[in-house]
Amino acid sequence: MSVLPASVQDISEGLRATGYLPGDSTALVSFLATKLGKPVLVEGPAGVGKTELAKALAKYLDRRLVRLQCYEGLDEAKALYEWNYRKQLLRIQTEASDAGWSKVQDDIFGEEFLLERPLMTAIASKEPVVLLIDEIDKTDQEFEAMLLELLSDFQISIPEMGTVVATSHPVVLLTSNNTRELTEALKRRCLYLWLDYPALEHELEIVKLHTPDLPDAVARKLVDLIAMVRDLDLKKPPSIAESIDWARALLLLGAQDIDPAMFRDTMSVIVKHRTDLDIVTERVGMKVGSLGSA
Ligand SMILES: Nc1ncnc2c1ncn2[C@@H]1O[C@H](COP(=O)(O)OP(=O)(O)OP(=O)(O)O)[C@@H](O)[C@H]1O
Ligand SMILES: [Mg+2]
Repeated sequence: MSVLPASVQDISEGLRATGYLPGDSTALVSFLATKLGKPVLVEGPAGVGKTELAKALAKYLDRRLVRLQCYEGLDEAKALYEWNYRKQLLRIQTEASDAGWSKVQDDIFGEEFLLERPLMTAIASKEPVVLLIDEIDKTDQEFEAMLLELLSDFQISIPEMGTVVATSHPVVLLTSNNTRELTEALKRRCLYLWLDYPALEHELEIVKLHTPDLPDAVARKLVDLIAMVRDLDLKKPPSIAESIDWARALLLLGAQDIDPAMFRDTMSVIVKHRTDLDIVTERVGMKVGSLGSA
């Protein structure tokens, strides 16, 4: 049985129970998405929990997660459906030579010869699913246009077979890293959620959730330092994913404090560009000692 949240509070607690700590706007938009049946476009920098939100929603709503990973050159055959040519060919070959073409044709363009790709799977599913269209900004505008039709009508037409209409309405999440501007037409059809780096207390909570055994004071110093590093003008500021990795590394090393030596030795977990490392060493490395020990 799939779950339907009764309030924003409900969905917020439900997501927490799956291990995802939503901010206020995340809980609100997720709630509206389940109620209004509109797709959600989630944008934000790398590693702030865009993909994870879809996974957590699927878990909480007790629905299957159907995921379409986008990439440059992704086409309908890989996103919607494709005919299983080999199987069709075999079917034709096994047919007695005097069989009529129309009979064979009716047969080989049936469901049995169709290879479902994620969008078709989500539309055709009898049980409602969560559909994640991940990193939509990696595809081109033609693909986006095709998607628009699907997202407004929730149906796919197959010329040889007819139209497949969604019987259960999927919750749809699209994510984007903002590498290109998406079309207005797409944005208009979606609810919008901007996910940013979290506030200190929120990030502390996330870090503690992932590494409950890390000493409190170390976790606090970690999020303070991460915030300082993010304030610098870096090529790639550390994301939540890096905060968690750092917390795990510190836990493994048995760190009781992040002193200057520990910071120097482990900072490559959070900073991953040669030039960024230099900036962080110079600007934050100096201050680590004076932050007070844990
Ligand atoms: N609110 C949160 N609560 C708990 N964990 C979180 C939260 N936000 C992010 N995380 C953790 O951060 C990590 C990165 O998240 P995720 O993979 O969803 O990032 P993303 O935004 O999809 O990044 P990318 O753009 O690189 O794909 C995950 O391991 C996830 O568990
Ligand atoms: Mg992602």
